[in-house]
Amino acid sequence: MKAAIRPARHAPLALELDDAEKMSLSQLRALQLERLKRSLASAENVGHFRTTFAAAGVSAADLSCLEDLARFPLLDKSQLRAAYPFGMLAVKRQEVARVHASSGTTGKSTIVASTLADLDHWSDLVARSMRAAGARRGDLVHVAYGYGLFTGGLGAHYGAERLGCTVLPVSGGQTEKQVQLITDLKPDVIMVTPSYMLVLIEEMERVGIDPRKTSLKRGIFGAEPWTEAMRAEIEERANIDALDIYGLSEIMGPGVASECVESKDGAVLWEDHFYPEIIDPVTGAVLPEGSFGELVLTTLTREAMPMIRYRTRDLTRLLPASARPMRRMDRITGRSDDMLIIRGVNVFPSQIEQLILATSPLAPQYQLVVAREGHLDTLTVRVELRSGASPASRALAAEELSRRIKEISGVTAGIEVLDCDAIERTLVGKARRVIDLRAKI
Ligand code: DLL
Repeated sequence: MKAAIRPARHAPLALELDDAEKMSLSQLRALQLERLKRSLASAENVGHFRTTFAAAGVSAADLSCLEDLARFPLLDKSQLRAAYPFGMLAVKRQEVARVHASSGTTGKSTIVASTLADLDHWSDLVARSMRAAGARRGDLVHVAYGYGLFTGGLGAHYGAERLGCTVLPVSGGQTEKQVQLITDLKPDVIMVTPSYMLVLIEEMERVGIDPRKTSLKRGIFGAEPWTEAMRAEIEERANIDALDIYGLSEIMGPGVASECVESKDGAVLWEDHFYPEIIDPVTGAVLPEGSFGELVLTTLTREAMPMIRYRTRDLTRLLPASARPMRRMDRITGRSDDMLIIRGVNVFPSQIEQLILATSPLAPQYQLVVAREGHLDTLTVRVELRSGASPASRALAAEELSRRIKEISGVTAGIEVLDCDAIERTLVGKARRVIDLRAKI
């Protein structure tokens, strides 16, 4: 007799594509326009939007095509903070089913509220994202994103349940226990930050488990920038498909965009729920399709907190549709506020990550230390030798990495090649790649 699959709390999605994933472009644009009109009208229940729309001389009733959205004012995180805690609600607080928060660097969080209908859409979108990544009803899913105010854990959790999976709500940290659970319970899918996946791989190697031989078949990785080189590293070392999932708390949480296993060519933006624009981060002007710039998102179905033209600070570009009718996002090169300016030159941590991974004796762990000597900024790249690499390769690797960084960015970086495991790993939350000592000097 076949083992019965534990019934899902909600009816799981069928394995085939859902209606929105099969729409023609004109159907999709028509749906977006209809939903955008509703979203703008509900935003007018929020004092902030009433004021800023009026100041820009626009109102929801003025929108007659999607391009008209560019006439509406942009929204940024400082405005959300000013409305803390519940000033951005378009519904009564009593209609809010759950609150998450994104931790701000300045200490004060921004609150993110969802109604039951918002949570329902969120679960559908994470389920759709997981299905795109190849997960299926009945799979065992190890969720190692943090649970709590962070949207990663609960977002992944309810999406996995919606798909009809068996969920293991492990959350972050306790690396040894995570490895034990993977060995004993034999999950098919893992959802975790890419940097913590590397920590898990290292822990397996440390205790003599071959990470290529676990039950894991796919990993759904996000919450922090990661490169194609990092994908190749993880896929090779763990023998899994590594898929990208993107999201941000202000807009929903994980599942705003996600990659399809059959194409692995960038996260598909779930455009039936979010309308993307790319703007020039300095002028705020909308850039032509395909240009690099800052991603701006408008929610089309969020009830509790509609976000109109929210500036994500994430730098990317939109790519044409491929495996689904919706547009894709290129990998995020970084956040405009994470960009390092070293002696006036813009450097993104992801550029350096790629160069480190292309330098063979170096491990994929790194830290960028930015300091100031006198009036000059300095950049020190701290890297590690891979286990088993000959100590004699240290000097050569340092020289090679320094030369590549100079070629690509023009910046002269100091390179410290440390022993394997010397760099502190981030065990909970997002990897801390940059240590900027300039403010303290
Ligand atoms: O990180 C939501 C999430 C959880 C996404 C789990 C994916 C998986 P926040 O803490 O609000 O929300 O951080 C959002 O993280 O604006 C990006 O800068 C970055 N980010 C998220 N996903 C990716 C990704 C969650 N796939 C911020 N690639 C975003 C690059 C990402 N950066």
